[in-house]
Amino acid sequence: MLATRAQRLKPSATLALNAKAHDLTRAGRDIVSLAVGEPDWDTFNYIKEAAKKALDEGFTKYTPAAGIPDLRAALVERTKIDLGLTYEPNQALVGLGAKHVIYNLLQVLCNPGDEVIIPTPYWVSYPVMAELAEAKVVAPVCSQKTNFKLSPEVLKNVLSAKTKVIILNSPNNPTGQVYTAEELKNLANVLERTGVWVISDDIYDRMVFTGDSIVPNIAQVNEKLRERVLLVNSMSKTYSMTGWRLGSVIGDKRVIDACANFQSQSSSSGVTFAQKGAVQALLGPQKDFEEALKELASRKSIVSKCLTEANIEFLEPQGAFYFWPSIEKFLGRRTPQGTEIKTSTEFSAALLDLEGVAVVPGIEFGMEGFVRLSYALNEKRLCEGMSRIQRFVSSLN
Ligand SMILES: Cc1ncc(COP(=O)(O)O)c(C=O)c1O
Repeated sequence: MLATRAQRLKPSATLALNAKAHDLTRAGRDIVSLAVGEPDWDTFNYIKEAAKKALDEGFTKYTPAAGIPDLRAALVERTKIDLGLTYEPNQALVGLGAKHVIYNLLQVLCNPGDEVIIPTPYWVSYPVMAELAEAKVVAPVCSQKTNFKLSPEVLKNVLSAKTKVIILNSPNNPTGQVYTAEELKNLANVLERTGVWVISDDIYDRMVFTGDSIVPNIAQVNEKLRERVLLVNSMSKTYSMTGWRLGSVIGDKRVIDACANFQSQSSSSGVTFAQKGAVQALLGPQKDFEEALKELASRKSIVSKCLTEANIEFLEPQGAFYFWPSIEKFLGRRTPQGTEIKTSTEFSAALLDLEGVAVVPGIEFGMEGFVRLSYALNEKRLCEGMSRIQRFVSSLN
């Protein structure tokens, strides 16, 4: 009855896992979810005030499909402040979150059979979105040797005449790793002579612990490539506005116009009064975010300490709010009840079942032998979750 497209589609693994954790909590179990993909603090007050004012002033009707002019201008201004790059407001487009924007970009860029390079591990939705655009997913594995980052050698190996798009994500979900300017320059040198579009998913770009205010961007390191870089960002993480559903893309005007066209026929504009809040978020005082980042850094050190104590191997993350520890050495072991753990999915299921801790299996991000832990939750619950993990791994035979 349903179309093949719908039959093949599986729900987002991270959203599904969080739903399961909520169900168990409702059923009375004490669940610590380290599977969350959003900050636990509220949207900052100055942003809410701007949206409330907009509501009171009657900003409740349709806006242009590409977003209200003052938000498009604010996006361009923020990009100038953050990256030192200059764009015109008509090169910026507002969508319903970065997820929507990336989906739309793939729809307007890819013909059936075009190839989309998705370095692995990857954010769960990229391959599904590429498939929905009838593109072929090319997912090169980025090994621990290169800190789970794409190297120019691997990139050269997977590039073909059919490559249409590559998706880069730094800081990375799930690994928390950040590309240096040098590494981006080396990738840009390979991409420069191709016609490949770069979707740069920058939604964690300011959530960084390297001491810099923002991570380097591929659009900054190679002028020739810049015109094919599409800068995707979101209000979701930096400003804790996941439920406001606002994301953006800045880049080539032809692509932006095509996305606006696509949105005009599919979703129309972002929520009108939410867009007013977003203008304030981008251009208002950034102090609240800076405070939140300090809090995140302190939670990150708790997880580092607990993983080290439990002898679980990991690469120190430099951004976002995730750890990507290796569970390789626990595969093949058994729970006290005798269940053998063979995969990251079985590891996560046993951890949830026995200790009530939710983590996302690495295989959902395209790589076996790892899990993703999120530390965007309060310190008390985080410590509780980590001590349960310590107990769980030490109970495995
Ligand atoms: C790497 C990455 N890109 C995009 C998104 C989507 O964010 P948004 O809420 O803006 O749709 C997420 C959300 O978790 C993400 O981790």
